[in-house]
Amino acid sequence: MKIAMGSDHAGFALKEQVKQHLKEMGCEVEDLGTYDEKSCHYPIYAQKVAMEVVSGRAGQGILICGTGAGMAIAANKIKGIRAVTVSDCFTARAVRMHNDANVLCMGARVIGSGLACLIAQLFVETEFEGGRHQTRLDMIADIENGK
Ligand code: RB5
Repeated sequence: MKIAMGSDHAGFALKEQVKQHLKEMGCEVEDLGTYDEKSCHYPIYAQKVAMEVVSGRAGQGILICGTGAGMAIAANKIKGIRAVTVSDCFTARAVRMHNDANVLCMGARVIGSGLACLIAQLFVETEFEGGRHQTRLDMIADIENGK
């Protein structure tokens, strides 16, 4: 499964570290930018990564900005995206098991690189449980579809 990654300038350095960790785990990673610390606009990268995920070209996305908040807000505007900002290991697993989250957002000004790499690893390795959780996701899709 390919992982699409993106960040703004605030998340650039952490993106590089998480990307390296995922590659060492054997993941295929597509880096959609940004590629340096020059000030830029996070919605550009949120949209790029979200489009890779909803198109099926990537299985999951990872977005990093200063807080992880702007990235999640922007990515969740794309139909079919379930982006969650995560800063602990429990939530990293839970949002996969219960919410089938398909985009992980993290804040480079919130957590350190060791924790971010572990959160990304747990997110990528954890399966959705389905069952009653799928019923709830179907309800969310209905909201998204105006039903
Ligand atoms: C950039 O300064 C900062 O606003 C951005 O990285 C992010 O935290 C937005 O949510």
